Amino acid sequence: MQTLNVSLADRSYPIYIGEDLLSSDYVRRHVRARQVMIVTNEMIAPLYLEKVLAGLSGLQVDTVVLPDGERFKTLSTLETIFDALLEKRHARTTTLVALGGGVVGDMTGFAAACYQRGVDFIQIPTTLLAQVDSSVGGKTAVNHPRGKNMIGAFYQPKAVIIDTSVLATLPERELGAGIAEVIKYGLIRDAEFFDWLEVNMQALRERNAEALVYAIERSCRNKAEVVADDETEQGVRATLNLGHTFGHAIETATGYSEWLHGEAVGAGMLMAAAFSADLQWLPEEQVTRIEALLKLAHLPTAPPPSMKAGQFRELMALDKKVHDGQLRLVLLKGVGHSVVTADYDDNKLDELLHRVCEAEG
Ligand code: NAD
Ligand code: GLY
Repeated sequence: MQTLNVSLADRSYPIYIGEDLLSSDYVRRHVRARQVMIVTNEMIAPLYLEKVLAGLSGLQVDTVVLPDGERFKTLSTLETIFDALLEKRHARTTTLVALGGGVVGDMTGFAAACYQRGVDFIQIPTTLLAQVDSSVGGKTAVNHPRGKNMIGAFYQPKAVIIDTSVLATLPERELGAGIAEVIKYGLIRDAEFFDWLEVNMQALRERNAEALVYAIERSCRNKAEVVADDETEQGVRATLNLGHTFGHAIETATGYSEWLHGEAVGAGMLMAAAFSADLQWLPEEQVTRIEALLKLAHLPTAPPPSMKAGQFRELMALDKKVHDGQLRLVLLKGVGHSVVTADYDDNKLDELLHRVCEAEG
């Protein structure tokens, strides 16, 4: 078992990482009073809810089981959580527990931020993506029909409890989507970790327990450092979005149904790397290394053949990193060295989009 700390003054919190932590006393340790509301979904409840309940005997524990899927990450699903809390008379001292992937975690965190103007919550992430990214850092949100994660709050959990055993039941594609975010940390700020991933990718894909714990711990350490530096994304936290501007365009173009977020980020990271090379910021051989690692991870390395350069342009203009009409991109000046910048030649971006789309289509 390993413990990291997210250092945010009086809102600091631990991240516990290890096997079989679900029914350990780590959850209970961070429950303030006698009431707990576990929020999970219909896929995860039959697999893991009993284990979490076993660790909380003697308390008033209620559960709300949501439908599964990104399309339910809405204000109306949030009401289901508030209804349950009110029906069971949960007080301001209650603790919400998010048991699930990023969808459950983001919604539960936002519910905790709003219920009675803010109650405690604990993250128990069950996907690799949630374990290495969404459960840490306090970004909480629901989607609006006009945009993903458009309604939310920065609201930190009291603890993050990462039980690596739950990854045994994770579908293959979901594992790959999480690995994309793991690779991201190597690319944006941890070149040594990138080297490690090149050697150990096969072990990760085979769910080797030791490799998974190492990759999760190193990813969370990187994320915790970035969040501690820039909790509300005024600067360096934006580097966590490497590949996301291109990736979001792919997700939107494909209706959020064909590609998983991490898959789109994988292809997007390679586009960001190729563009960085076009700008002479990144040596070509490093682009080749990145492409090889994504392939080893079974991640896509190009956008879908149906996408055209103009469509990329339109969708990228909707990115949250557009400031005063200027699109800022996360780009690479080397493996392990990222920058957020609008200081690039826009014609070269057009050239990249045409090249990548034509290569495909
Ligand atoms: P998800 O929550 O939809 O989970 C993916 C699928 O795996 C779901 O069907 C889920 O029920 C299932 N599942 C979860 N754990 C399982 C397990 N152990 N065994 C079997 N099945 C399991 O998707 P996700 O990739 O975890 O999260 C994506 C969401 O996270 C998006 O809404 C995205 O916006 C958000 N996100 C948030 C942040 C943040 O900083 N808050 C960062 C990245 C992504
Ligand atoms: N996943 C991006 C962030 O937490 O900032």
